[in-house]
Amino acid sequence: MTSWYGYERGELHADGVPLASLADEFGTPCYVYSRQALEARFAAFDHAFRRDALVCYAVKANSNLAVLQVLARAGAGFDIVSLGELKRVIAAGGDPGKSVFAGACKLDHELEGALQAGIRCINVESEAELESLGETAGRLGVEAPVALRVNPDVAAGAHPHIATGLKEHKFGIPLDRARDIYDRIAAHDALRAHGVACHIGSQIMDLAPLAESAARVAELARELLSAGHELVSLDLGGGLGTDTPDQAAPSPLQLARALEEATAGLDLELVIEPGRAIAGPAGLLLTRVAYTKDGDDRAFALVDAAMNDLLRPALYGAWHDILPVVPAGSARRMDVVGPVCESADFLGKDRELAVTAGSLLAVADAGAYGFTMSSNYNSRPRCAEVIIDSGQARLIRARETFDDLVRGERLLA
Ligand code: LLP
Repeated sequence: MTSWYGYERGELHADGVPLASLADEFGTPCYVYSRQALEARFAAFDHAFRRDALVCYAVKANSNLAVLQVLARAGAGFDIVSLGELKRVIAAGGDPGKSVFAGACKLDHELEGALQAGIRCINVESEAELESLGETAGRLGVEAPVALRVNPDVAAGAHPHIATGLKEHKFGIPLDRARDIYDRIAAHDALRAHGVACHIGSQIMDLAPLAESAARVAELARELLSAGHELVSLDLGGGLGTDTPDQAAPSPLQLARALEEATAGLDLELVIEPGRAIAGPAGLLLTRVAYTKDGDDRAFALVDAAMNDLLRPALYGAWHDILPVVPAGSARRMDVVGPVCESADFLGKDRELAVTAGSLLAVADAGAYGFTMSSNYNSRPRCAEVIIDSGQARLIRARETFDDLVRGERLLA
């Protein structure tokens, strides 16, 4: 896919709009998304499969209502992990009947809310949670559609914080215990087996572990079907990575071929839950250089965005390309750092950049796990979010104010 941002006459534009004009209109720091890029990336998954498949966008990657609305209108289902995410999906016009509820520890009121909303499937992660779901569904007089999220014990090769598919991880139910639990589901009045689910991690650059875990859960599904369980779907999770400087990520088409091959002959609907690969490349973080500083050891570009706005470099050592909107001065190696009082507060280290005070920078591939992981640390208001829709920039979340920061707080009498 061609990029939605690039240089025109020496100035960085996004979907034809000069980024400098967005900084003038909305201020910095500011997340900028492209509707067209979101739609194109969703469509790449949606059209990739040769058999029945449902693409459930992982809301946690970017849960802005307008982003969800764009994807809902494009026909997406949703992968949610909390009642808050489900309420967002509904508020954005998404269909709970095309949404799956994942997550390691769903609370009773969340299970109740999801059942009342008509959720497609609840991916259960422990026997205790299953029991709770059975009670809740029984109390409501409904039958809960269940998939067990099994832990296939496959290493995903991702950063350790975001790998989830090994026995040592808190996620899922061991594969060899699943058979018995499905028998219990069959015997329970308020539970109905809908499918089998797995998810082994995130930012996965190699199809082999994804295919291996798909093959393992497909094997379990085959056993369950032959034992008489009437399954409908096989949920293979999310996790497809996005390009890094030294590696191109597999395409949705390549993922689809690998998953279809690994599950060949199994007549179940496939569900996938991509988050990053849809939203990540469709967003950037726009920030302004406030000062430059030459230390003894290195030079710094001190910018107005910080780890509270984009936590990924600090938390995972994640690499995001950083582009000057209009290169200024001569290029030199710099660390791009923010105002937060922590040495972990950096957006990029040792980057070759031509910038001076006042220059704008675009931090690329920031559409996923950017705003959703942002915080008010150091009492910094969370930044604005803007989407470009047919060449028009629209504000989809206002920058927070001091009143927003202290909302709900009380002084003592
Ligand atoms: N399904 C389940 C059950 C998940 O836990 C996740 C992500 C996804 C789908 C979507 O995975 P994706 O396609 O986006 O890789 N904050 C981290 C990523 C955490 C992912 C958590 N689970 C980061 O910024 O890299």
